[in-house]
Amino acid sequence: MTNFFDDLARFYDLDHALVRDDVEMYRQFAAQSGSPILELGCGTGRVALPLARDGHEVAAVDISPAMLAALRAKLAQEPPEVAARVRAVQADMRRLALGREFALALCPLNTFMHMTTQADQLATLGSAYRHLAPGGRLIVDVASPLALLLIPTGEGLSLQSELRDAASGRSVQKFTSVRFDHARQMQYLTLIYDEVGADGTVRRTTLRTELRYVFRFEMQLLLERVGFTVEDVYGSPDLEPYEALSENMIFVARR
Ligand SMILES: C[S@@+](CC[C@H](N)C(=O)[O-])C[C@H]1O[C@@H](n2cnc3c(N)ncnc32)[C@H](O)[C@@H]1O
Repeated sequence: MTNFFDDLARFYDLDHALVRDDVEMYRQFAAQSGSPILELGCGTGRVALPLARDGHEVAAVDISPAMLAALRAKLAQEPPEVAARVRAVQADMRRLALGREFALALCPLNTFMHMTTQADQLATLGSAYRHLAPGGRLIVDVASPLALLLIPTGEGLSLQSELRDAASGRSVQKFTSVRFDHARQMQYLTLIYDEVGADGTVRRTTLRTELRYVFRFEMQLLLERVGFTVEDVYGSPDLEPYEALSENMIFVARR
């Protein structure tokens, strides 16, 4: 798992430049809860940084040194008072022991789906529970299983996007291949990033990962098993109700 994310870090921001809808949702939850905030799987700080700019203190936890290096490089560009609000911590979210309590915990953008066994799922939710103050909330955003079921399966490779960094002129073609094993609720993902040089030469990076999807009431039981009460389940970052064809399942759980 670590290698996948370390290798992905080089492409992460370019690939996720357009993913922004959820940041406003986290800003709203943070405005309600106040600080400090724990982010499980912070990546390069897509969510943690806007929260710090809003004035929140954030413990940004990630297992990948490369993701954290990218986050630290961004923090170095921020005003010192913003950078000082983010504590970047290399740790495994399944075994977290930060020794402090948080008002809010976040697990954005399908990160929870990288927990591919029930033991890992429960360990991660348990970490969140132990680090929340009584009454604190956990927000977990995962793909809705019904939306995943509509994705055509097979080994075929498709061009998903042509990514271009206007500042550097860097051009990357992203290809994906998705395969499901629905009996195991598993999604096997291959990502291919082709970096196209000015002279047309291509440098290819192939990454593979496995994700486990969860059903709504399975997730509710997992959350309840570690002590949470599920307050809401939303179907989008605009906090629309969760429905059959929603793309997201966003759980709001209270300790
Ligand atoms: C999909 S990215 C999400 C990054 C960021 N939260 C965002 O929304 O852009 C998932 C992140 O979770 C991290 N991660 C995966 N497994 C982890 C684990 N066991 N403990 C801590 N971080 C983990 C990865 O390194 C990666 O940066």
